[in-house]
Amino acid sequence: MSDPYFQQLFAERVGGPNYGKGTAIYKFEKIKRAKRKALADHPERQLIDFGIGENDEMAPASVRSRMAEEINRPENRGYADNGVAAYKEAVARFMQRNFDVKLDAATEVNHCIGSKTALAMLPAVFINPGDITLMTVPGYPVAGTHTRYYGGIVHTLPLLPENDFFPDLDGIPADIRQRAKLLVLNYPNSPTGRVATRAFYERAIAFARENHIVIVQDAAHIMLSYEGAPLSFLSVPGAKDVGVEVHSMSKGFHMIGWRLGWVCGNERIVQALADVKDNCDSGQFIAIQKAGAAALDDDSIPRAVRTKYERRCRKLVDTLKRCGFTARMPGGSYFVYAASPKGIAGGPKFETAEAASQYLIAEHSICTVPWDDAGAYLRFSATYEAPTEAEEDALMAAAEERLKRIQPLF
Ligand SMILES: Cc1ncc(COP(=O)(O)O)c(C=O)c1O
Repeated sequence: MSDPYFQQLFAERVGGPNYGKGTAIYKFEKIKRAKRKALADHPERQLIDFGIGENDEMAPASVRSRMAEEINRPENRGYADNGVAAYKEAVARFMQRNFDVKLDAATEVNHCIGSKTALAMLPAVFINPGDITLMTVPGYPVAGTHTRYYGGIVHTLPLLPENDFFPDLDGIPADIRQRAKLLVLNYPNSPTGRVATRAFYERAIAFARENHIVIVQDAAHIMLSYEGAPLSFLSVPGAKDVGVEVHSMSKGFHMIGWRLGWVCGNERIVQALADVKDNCDSGQFIAIQKAGAAALDDDSIPRAVRTKYERRCRKLVDTLKRCGFTARMPGGSYFVYAASPKGIAGGPKFETAEAASQYLIAEHSICTVPWDDAGAYLRFSATYEAPTEAEEDALMAAAEERLKRIQPLF
C-alpha cells in the first residue's frame, strides 16, 4: 500500500513520517496476542488470567438503578461542562468522611472523565518545552506521555525494594530538581502495591516546597487500602499548598467503564485544570455524575469492594508463596507484585520478566503482566473472573497445581 499524501505530516510525537510503519509491539498488545494464541493452541487448557487490570464486577445494583432514573430526566440531557454541583458536593462529603479532608466543593474539586484524562491534562497546565516531570517507575505512564507531547522531559524515579518502593527524592540531581515542575506520585502504588506513609508524604511536601515543584498524587486505588484506613495525601498538613490529588470511581466502586473521577486540592491548580479541560471535553454525562454522587454517599460500596480484593490478594499471595515466589501482601491495589522467576527447573532461563511472562502464557496458559523498569517482576491481578468464593478457590487450586509442576527458579 502506498503512503497517503499526508504521511509526511504526522507529528513527531506519534512517530513523524514513520507513523504506522513500526514493528515494535507494545507490552499489553503482546499479552493480548499471546492470550489469543494460548486459547487457540490449547483449547483444552483453562486460561488462568492474572493479567486483567480491571474489576470483574458491574457497579452495584443501587448505582445502576439510580442511573436508570437519572437517564430519563430531561434536565440531565445537556453539556455538563466542568461538572454539576451535586457531584462535587458528594466528593467533598466523601473526602471529609473517609480521609478527614475538608474541601470547598465549589473551588477545590473538579470532576473528570476518569482519572486518566486528568493525568493527561495536568501536564498542559505546567509543562513548557524543556520542563521536567518526575515520574515513578514502574507505573501508570499517562502524565509522562503528555509531558513529552508538550516538549517536556520525563525523569524517572525507580521504585525499588531497598527503598521500600518509595522514590529516592534526595538522590535527584540538583540540575534535574531545578528544571522539574511536576512530581507524579501514585499511592497505593500500581503495580508495587505499596501504600504511602504520613512520613513519606511529609517528606514529599517539604521536597516540593524546597524545589518549587507541584505534586500530583494519583489516588486511583485509594479505596483498595488494606493496611489500616486509606490515607489521602491531602490529609497531610501543607499538601494543599503544593498540589492536587486525582481520584477515580473505577476501582473502588466497580465503575471502570462509567468514566468518572475528580481532581481536588489546591484551588489555583484545580481551576487551571478546569480551564484546560474546558478546552478538551464538555464534561461527563450528568446522569453518570448524579449516579456517581449516590455511590460516593454509600460507604458500604467501597467497603465491600475492598473486602473482596483483600481476600483475593491474600489467597493469591499464599498460593504464590507455596509455589516458591517471594510474594508479599500488597498494602493496597488489587495487584500482587512478585519477583519474576529466573528460569524453570530443567527448562529455559529468563533474562527479563517479559520472557518469563511470555513463557507462562505460551506454555502453561497463565497470564501475568511483566515489569522490567526497576528489576524483573510479574504482576498478578486479583481481578480474575470467578463469580463465587468456591470458584475463586478452585482457580487458586488450579494455579497452584500448575505453578508447582512448572518449578520456577528464583
Ligand atoms: C495507577 C492508575 N492511575 C489511574 C488509572 C486510570 O483510571 P481511570 O481513568 O479509570 O480513573 C489507572 C487505571 O488503570 C491506574 O492504574
